[in-house]
Amino acid sequence: MTEPSTARASWDTDELPQGEAKVAAVQGMFDAIAPRYDRLNRIISFRLDVRWRQRAVRDLALPAGSVVLDLASGTGDLCIDLAAGGVRPISMDLSFGMLSADRSGAPRVQTDILRLPVPDASVDGVTCGFALRNLLDLPTFFAELGRVVRPGGRIALLDVSVPDNRVMRWGNDIYFGRIVPRIGALLSDGAAYRYLPRSVAYLPEPDEMLASLSAAGFVGATHEQLSGGLTQLLVATRR
Ligand SMILES: C[S@@+](CC[C@H](N)C(=O)[O-])C[C@H]1O[C@@H](n2cnc3c(N)ncnc32)[C@H](O)[C@@H]1O
Repeated sequence: MTEPSTARASWDTDELPQGEAKVAAVQGMFDAIAPRYDRLNRIISFRLDVRWRQRAVRDLALPAGSVVLDLASGTGDLCIDLAAGGVRPISMDLSFGMLSADRSGAPRVQTDILRLPVPDASVDGVTCGFALRNLLDLPTFFAELGRVVRPGGRIALLDVSVPDNRVMRWGNDIYFGRIVPRIGALLSDGAAYRYLPRSVAYLPEPDEMLASLSAAGFVGATHEQLSGGLTQLLVATRR
């Protein structure tokens, strides 16, 4: 019989990991939480996550039949909403565990989305839900979106946010800092659900992301906080 391991998971750290250690921690963490990911999402967001994804698909506003890459697709929730909206999604993610739990029926590709395995200007649009903070380098990601989206194509990117409103921010800190990790520990992986709220610190300010999208060839970029600032949505058109 083997003793249970007492080694800490690579995402169970006081300091947020950087560089390749971050990539390995993110991949290992999502592989570990994949089987219970959807259930936890619905519980901790009170099902608001469903509405946020639907809003992203609506704002993407691409005609039926458009080819859309859903990047960091996880278990495929956005792919389901995209298909319901009449477009043709392709699911791409780094985590084999998350892709294995994808029941959307979309074609699935395991890849690092900082290096997309598709030709220049070959897709009509891109969505990305709740993964910007997991990436090593956002300007590189935005440049990659600028490379693969055709002129006139659209992108819609969601991630968690820090509410502008002070009262909302206070409530958000308590809920995500103290309550969510306990729910995570009870139903999934406590370290992962401690890491996820802290990882918002990786995200640049909205103005910086908008400038970066403009440098990557996108125009008309907008940034909006949803549900009082719990989440943010970036939308833009390829020049
Ligand atoms: C919080 S989950 C979001 C999943 C899904 N988009 C959703 O809306 O529920 C973040 C996802 O990003 C993926 N991810 C993180 N870094 C990645 C990378 N460099 N390349 C591809 N996928 C990545 C993870 O494997 C995970 O599935």
